[in-house]
Amino acid sequence: MSTAFDAGNGKITVPDILRRKTNVPSSSNQNSDPGRDRGESGQRKIVCLTAYDYPTARLVDEAGVDIVLVGDSLGMVVLGYENTLPLTVDEMLHHTRAVRRGVRKALLVADMPYGSFHGDKNEAVRNAVRFVKEAGAEAVKIEGGERRMELIAQLVEAEIPVMGHIGLTPQSMHAFGGFRVQGKTVEAADQLLRDARAVEAAGAFSVVLESIPRELAARITSELRIPTIGIGAGPECDGQVLVLHDMIGLSLGHTPKFARRYANVGEAISHAVTAYAEDVREGRFPADAESYHLSSEVRERLLAVRRS
Ligand code: KIV
Repeated sequence: MSTAFDAGNGKITVPDILRRKTNVPSSSNQNSDPGRDRGESGQRKIVCLTAYDYPTARLVDEAGVDIVLVGDSLGMVVLGYENTLPLTVDEMLHHTRAVRRGVRKALLVADMPYGSFHGDKNEAVRNAVRFVKEAGAEAVKIEGGERRMELIAQLVEAEIPVMGHIGLTPQSMHAFGGFRVQGKTVEAADQLLRDARAVEAAGAFSVVLESIPRELAARITSELRIPTIGIGAGPECDGQVLVLHDMIGLSLGHTPKFARRYANVGEAISHAVTAYAEDVREGRFPADAESYHLSSEVRERLLAVRRS
Protein backbone atom coordinates (compact mmCIF):
# COMPACT_ATOMS: atom_id res chain seq x y z
CA MET A 1 0.00 0.00 0.00
CA SER A 2 1.21 3.50 -0.82
CA THR A 3 2.36 5.67 2.05
CA ALA A 4 2.06 8.86 0.01
CA PHE A 5 -0.55 10.42 2.25
CA ASP A 6 0.79 9.44 5.65
CA ALA A 7 1.19 12.57 7.73
CA GLY A 8 4.79 13.43 8.46
CA ASN A 9 6.49 11.49 5.68
CA GLY A 10 7.32 14.72 3.87
CA LYS A 11 5.07 14.02 0.88
CA ILE A 12 3.61 17.24 -0.46
CA THR A 13 -0.09 17.08 -1.23
CA VAL A 14 -2.68 19.39 -2.74
CA PRO A 15 -3.92 20.54 0.72
CA ASP A 16 -0.28 21.34 1.62
CA ILE A 17 -0.04 23.59 -1.45
CA LEU A 18 -3.30 25.32 -0.56
CA ARG A 19 -1.91 26.02 2.93
CA ARG A 20 1.16 27.60 1.34
CA LYS A 21 -0.71 30.74 0.28
CA THR A 22 1.82 33.42 1.22
CA ASN A 23 -0.03 36.59 0.37
CA VAL A 24 -3.24 36.73 2.34
CA PRO A 25 -6.14 38.58 0.66
CA SER A 26 -5.63 42.28 0.24
CA SER A 27 -6.82 44.51 3.10
CA SER A 28 -4.58 42.95 5.76
CA ASN A 29 -1.53 42.88 3.49
CA GLN A 30 0.84 45.53 4.85
CA ASN A 31 4.24 43.99 4.34
CA SER A 32 5.81 45.84 1.40
CA ASP A 33 8.67 43.43 0.74
CA PRO A 34 7.17 41.37 -2.06
CA GLY A 35 10.12 39.12 -2.87
CA ARG A 36 10.45 37.86 0.68
CA ASP A 37 10.82 34.17 1.34
CA ARG A 38 7.81 34.15 3.65
CA GLY A 39 4.58 36.00 2.96
CA GLU A 40 2.00 37.52 5.25
CA SER A 41 0.84 34.12 6.42
CA GLY A 42 4.39 33.09 7.38
CA GLN A 43 4.37 30.44 4.66
CA ARG A 44 7.37 29.81 2.44
CA LYS A 45 7.04 30.57 -1.26
CA ILE A 46 6.08 27.59 -3.42
CA VAL A 47 8.89 26.30 -5.63
CA CYS A 48 7.86 24.57 -8.85
CA LEU A 49 10.00 23.27 -11.71
CA THR A 50 9.38 21.19 -14.79
CA ALA A 51 10.84 17.73 -15.35
CA TYR A 52 10.31 15.44 -18.31
CA ASP A 53 12.28 12.29 -17.53
CA TYR A 54 13.49 10.05 -14.70
CA PRO A 55 16.93 11.58 -13.95
CA THR A 56 15.76 15.20 -13.95
CA ALA A 57 12.69 14.21 -11.93
CA ARG A 58 14.91 12.62 -9.27
CA LEU A 59 17.33 15.53 -9.17
CA VAL A 60 14.59 18.14 -8.93
CA ASP A 61 12.66 16.18 -6.29
CA GLU A 62 15.76 15.43 -4.21
CA ALA A 63 16.70 19.13 -4.32
CA GLY A 64 13.44 19.77 -2.47
CA VAL A 65 11.04 21.51 -4.87
CA ASP A 66 7.38 21.52 -3.85
CA ILE A 67 5.78 20.83 -7.22
CA VAL A 68 7.17 18.96 -10.23
CA LEU A 69 5.32 19.89 -13.40
CA VAL A 70 5.43 17.74 -16.51
CA GLY A 71 4.68 20.76 -18.67
CA ASP A 72 3.72 20.64 -22.30
CA SER A 73 6.87 22.71 -22.90
CA LEU A 74 8.17 19.12 -23.16
CA GLY A 75 7.10 19.31 -26.80
CA MET A 76 9.50 22.16 -27.51
CA VAL A 77 12.45 21.67 -25.18
CA VAL A 78 12.75 17.89 -25.31
CA LEU A 79 10.89 16.67 -28.40
CA GLY A 80 11.94 19.50 -30.70
CA TYR A 81 8.49 20.62 -31.87
CA GLU A 82 8.21 24.25 -32.94
CA ASN A 83 5.47 24.92 -30.38
CA THR A 84 3.39 22.97 -27.86
CA LEU A 85 0.44 22.31 -30.17
CA PRO A 86 1.47 18.96 -31.78
CA LEU A 87 2.11 17.21 -28.46
CA THR A 88 -0.23 14.24 -27.88
CA VAL A 89 -1.77 12.74 -24.75
CA ASP A 90 0.25 9.55 -25.31
CA GLU A 91 3.53 11.49 -25.47
CA MET A 92 2.62 13.35 -22.28
CA LEU A 93 1.65 10.10 -20.55
CA HIS A 94 4.93 8.43 -21.54
CA HIS A 95 6.98 11.24 -19.98
CA THR A 96 4.71 11.63 -16.94
CA ARG A 97 5.24 7.93 -16.13
CA ALA A 98 9.02 8.38 -16.29
CA VAL A 99 8.82 11.45 -14.03
CA ARG A 100 6.51 9.58 -11.62
CA ARG A 101 9.25 6.98 -11.13
CA GLY A 102 11.66 9.72 -10.05
CA VAL A 103 9.45 11.85 -7.80
CA ARG A 104 8.88 10.82 -4.19
CA LYS A 105 8.07 13.96 -2.24
CA ALA A 106 6.94 16.76 -4.53
CA LEU A 107 3.40 17.09 -5.83
CA LEU A 108 3.32 15.76 -9.39
CA VAL A 109 1.25 17.82 -11.83
CA ALA A 110 0.79 16.94 -15.52
CA ASP A 111 -0.19 19.38 -18.25
CA MET A 112 -3.19 18.53 -20.39
CA PRO A 113 -1.92 18.99 -23.96
CA TYR A 114 -3.64 20.99 -26.67
CA GLY A 115 -6.72 19.21 -28.04
CA SER A 116 -7.13 16.91 -25.03
CA PHE A 117 -9.73 19.11 -23.32
CA HIS A 118 -11.01 21.46 -26.00
CA GLY A 119 -13.91 19.39 -27.31
CA ASP A 120 -16.32 17.11 -25.52
CA LYS A 121 -16.13 17.59 -21.73
CA ASN A 122 -16.58 13.91 -20.97
CA GLU A 123 -13.65 13.09 -23.22
CA ALA A 124 -11.63 15.77 -21.44
CA VAL A 125 -12.41 14.14 -18.09
CA ARG A 126 -11.48 10.73 -19.51
CA ASN A 127 -8.16 12.14 -20.72
CA ALA A 128 -7.46 13.71 -17.31
CA VAL A 129 -8.32 10.44 -15.58
CA ARG A 130 -5.65 8.72 -17.73
CA PHE A 131 -3.00 11.05 -16.26
CA VAL A 132 -3.99 10.04 -12.75
CA LYS A 133 -4.70 6.36 -13.36
CA GLU A 134 -2.07 5.43 -15.94
CA ALA A 135 0.74 7.87 -15.16
CA GLY A 136 0.43 8.61 -11.44
CA ALA A 137 -0.17 12.37 -11.71
CA GLU A 138 -1.68 13.92 -8.60
CA ALA A 139 -3.19 16.89 -10.42
CA VAL A 140 -3.55 18.23 -13.95
CA LYS A 141 -2.91 21.70 -15.33
CA ILE A 142 -5.39 23.30 -17.71
CA GLU A 143 -4.69 26.42 -19.77
CA GLY A 144 -7.43 29.04 -19.93
CA GLY A 145 -9.59 31.14 -17.62
CA GLU A 146 -13.33 31.88 -17.68
CA ARG A 147 -14.01 29.58 -20.60
CA ARG A 148 -12.58 26.61 -18.67
CA MET A 149 -14.78 27.11 -15.59
CA GLU A 150 -17.21 24.33 -16.38
CA LEU A 151 -14.44 21.87 -17.25
CA ILE A 152 -12.40 22.66 -14.12
CA ALA A 153 -15.51 22.13 -11.97
CA GLN A 154 -16.16 18.81 -13.73
CA LEU A 155 -12.59 17.63 -13.14
CA VAL A 156 -12.73 18.61 -9.48
CA GLU A 157 -16.03 16.72 -9.24
CA ALA A 158 -14.17 13.69 -10.64
CA GLU A 159 -11.62 14.02 -7.78
CA ILE A 160 -8.90 15.42 -10.02
CA PRO A 161 -7.19 18.48 -8.53
CA VAL A 162 -6.66 21.22 -11.11
CA MET A 163 -3.93 23.82 -11.44
CA GLY A 164 -5.18 26.69 -13.62
CA HIS A 165 -2.98 28.61 -16.07
CA ILE A 166 -3.81 32.10 -17.35
CA GLY A 167 -1.98 34.98 -19.02
CA LEU A 168 0.30 33.92 -21.83
CA THR A 169 -1.10 30.45 -22.41
CA PRO A 170 1.12 28.99 -25.17
CA GLN A 171 -1.69 26.78 -26.49
CA SER A 172 -3.47 30.05 -27.50
CA MET A 173 -0.49 31.25 -29.55
CA HIS A 174 -2.45 31.56 -32.79
CA ALA A 175 -5.29 33.44 -31.11
CA PHE A 176 -2.74 35.76 -29.42
CA GLY A 177 -0.73 36.24 -32.62
CA GLY A 178 2.46 34.89 -31.02
CA PHE A 179 4.07 34.78 -27.61
CA ARG A 180 3.26 38.19 -26.13
CA VAL A 181 3.02 39.58 -22.61
CA GLN A 182 -0.68 39.60 -21.70
CA GLY A 183 -2.83 41.95 -19.63
CA LYS A 184 -1.18 45.23 -20.59
CA THR A 185 -4.32 47.27 -21.23
CA VAL A 186 -7.10 48.04 -18.74
CA GLU A 187 -9.50 45.78 -20.64
CA ALA A 188 -7.00 42.92 -20.87
CA ALA A 189 -6.08 43.28 -17.18
CA ASP A 190 -9.78 43.20 -16.25
CA GLN A 191 -10.25 40.05 -18.32
CA LEU A 192 -7.32 38.38 -16.54
CA LEU A 193 -8.79 39.30 -13.16
CA ARG A 194 -12.05 37.70 -14.27
CA ASP A 195 -10.12 34.65 -15.50
CA ALA A 196 -8.32 34.29 -12.17
CA ARG A 197 -11.54 34.59 -10.18
CA ALA A 198 -13.25 32.07 -12.47
CA VAL A 199 -10.48 29.50 -12.10
CA GLU A 200 -10.63 29.86 -8.31
CA ALA A 201 -14.44 29.73 -8.21
CA ALA A 202 -14.40 26.57 -10.34
CA GLY A 203 -12.31 24.83 -7.68
CA ALA A 204 -8.69 24.97 -8.89
CA PHE A 205 -6.15 24.60 -6.06
CA SER A 206 -3.61 27.00 -7.62
CA VAL A 207 -3.12 29.04 -10.75
CA VAL A 208 -0.09 29.73 -12.93
CA LEU A 209 0.23 33.36 -14.04
CA GLU A 210 2.43 33.50 -17.13
CA SER A 211 3.99 36.62 -18.69
CA ILE A 212 1.80 39.31 -17.22
CA PRO A 213 2.81 42.66 -15.66
CA ARG A 214 4.06 42.39 -12.10
CA GLU A 215 1.48 44.87 -10.81
CA LEU A 216 -1.39 42.82 -12.23
CA ALA A 217 0.03 39.56 -10.84
CA ALA A 218 0.33 41.25 -7.42
CA ARG A 219 -3.30 42.34 -7.59
CA ILE A 220 -4.49 38.86 -8.57
CA THR A 221 -2.33 37.29 -5.87
CA SER A 222 -3.73 39.57 -3.19
CA GLU A 223 -7.30 38.87 -4.27
CA LEU A 224 -7.23 35.09 -4.62
CA ARG A 225 -7.36 32.60 -1.76
CA ILE A 226 -5.57 29.95 -3.81
CA PRO A 227 -1.82 30.29 -4.42
CA THR A 228 -0.60 31.96 -7.58
CA ILE A 229 2.51 30.53 -9.21
CA GLY A 230 4.28 33.03 -11.42
CA ILE A 231 6.43 32.66 -14.50
CA GLY A 232 7.33 36.07 -15.86
CA ALA A 233 4.80 37.58 -13.45
CA GLY A 234 7.01 39.26 -10.85
CA PRO A 235 7.96 38.44 -7.26
CA GLU A 236 4.63 38.99 -5.51
CA CYS A 237 3.21 35.62 -6.58
CA ASP A 238 2.87 32.93 -3.91
CA GLY A 239 5.33 30.76 -5.80
CA GLN A 240 7.47 30.60 -8.92
CA VAL A 241 7.85 28.10 -11.74
CA LEU A 242 10.52 27.85 -14.44
CA VAL A 243 11.19 25.44 -17.26
CA LEU A 244 14.14 23.38 -15.97
CA HIS A 245 15.90 23.34 -19.34
CA ASP A 246 15.77 27.17 -19.50
CA MET A 247 17.27 27.61 -16.03
CA ILE A 248 20.11 25.12 -16.59
CA GLY A 249 21.02 26.34 -20.08
CA LEU A 250 19.75 23.29 -21.95
CA SER A 251 17.06 24.92 -24.10
CA LEU A 252 18.25 25.39 -27.61
CA GLY A 253 15.67 27.99 -28.66
CA HIS A 254 14.87 31.50 -27.49
CA THR A 255 14.62 31.90 -23.73
CA PRO A 256 12.47 34.70 -22.28
CA LYS A 257 13.99 37.41 -20.07
CA PHE A 258 12.44 36.03 -16.90
CA ALA A 259 14.18 32.65 -17.32
CA ARG A 260 17.20 33.26 -15.08
CA ARG A 261 20.02 30.87 -15.95
CA TYR A 262 21.56 29.06 -12.95
CA ALA A 263 23.87 26.72 -14.86
CA ASN A 264 25.18 26.07 -18.35
CA VAL A 265 24.59 22.38 -18.77
CA GLY A 266 24.39 22.71 -22.57
CA GLU A 267 27.94 24.07 -22.66
CA ALA A 268 29.13 21.37 -20.25
CA ILE A 269 27.67 18.67 -22.54
CA SER A 270 29.30 20.24 -25.63
CA HIS A 271 32.70 20.40 -23.92
CA ALA A 272 32.43 16.80 -22.73
CA VAL A 273 31.42 15.46 -26.16
CA THR A 274 34.19 17.40 -27.94
CA ALA A 275 36.81 16.11 -25.49
CA TYR A 276 35.54 12.51 -25.86
CA ALA A 277 35.62 12.71 -29.67
CA GLU A 278 39.21 14.03 -29.58
CA ASP A 279 40.30 11.32 -27.15
CA VAL A 280 38.79 8.56 -29.32
CA ARG A 281 40.36 9.96 -32.50
CA GLU A 282 43.77 10.39 -30.85
CA GLY A 283 43.71 6.91 -29.24
CA ARG A 284 43.62 8.36 -25.70
CA PHE A 285 40.33 6.65 -24.90
CA PRO A 286 39.97 4.10 -23.47
CA ALA A 287 43.06 3.95 -21.26
CA ASP A 288 44.39 0.67 -19.87
CA ALA A 289 42.67 1.38 -16.54
CA GLU A 290 39.37 1.63 -18.40
CA SER A 291 39.87 -1.79 -20.02
CA TYR A 292 39.07 -5.27 -18.69
CA HIS A 293 41.91 -7.79 -18.35
CA LEU A 294 42.29 -11.54 -18.55
CA SER A 295 43.75 -13.34 -15.56
CA SER A 296 47.44 -14.25 -16.07
CA GLU A 297 46.47 -17.93 -16.28
CA VAL A 298 43.96 -17.43 -19.12
CA ARG A 299 46.38 -15.07 -20.85
CA GLU A 300 49.13 -17.69 -20.76
CA ARG A 301 46.82 -20.38 -22.13
CA LEU A 302 45.60 -18.08 -24.88
CA LEU A 303 49.17 -17.29 -25.88
CA ALA A 304 50.06 -20.96 -25.79
CA VAL A 305 47.16 -21.80 -28.12
CA ARG A 306 48.32 -19.12 -30.50
CA ARG A 307 51.92 -20.41 -30.51
CA SER A 308 50.95 -24.05 -31.20
O1 KIV B 1 4.59 23.72 -20.07
C1 KIV B 1 5.15 24.33 -19.16
O2 KIV B 1 6.33 24.14 -18.89
C2 KIV B 1 4.37 25.29 -18.42
C3 KIV B 1 5.08 26.16 -17.45
C4 KIV B 1 5.84 27.18 -18.18
C5 KIV B 1 4.16 26.77 -16.47
O3 KIV B 1 3.19 25.39 -18.63
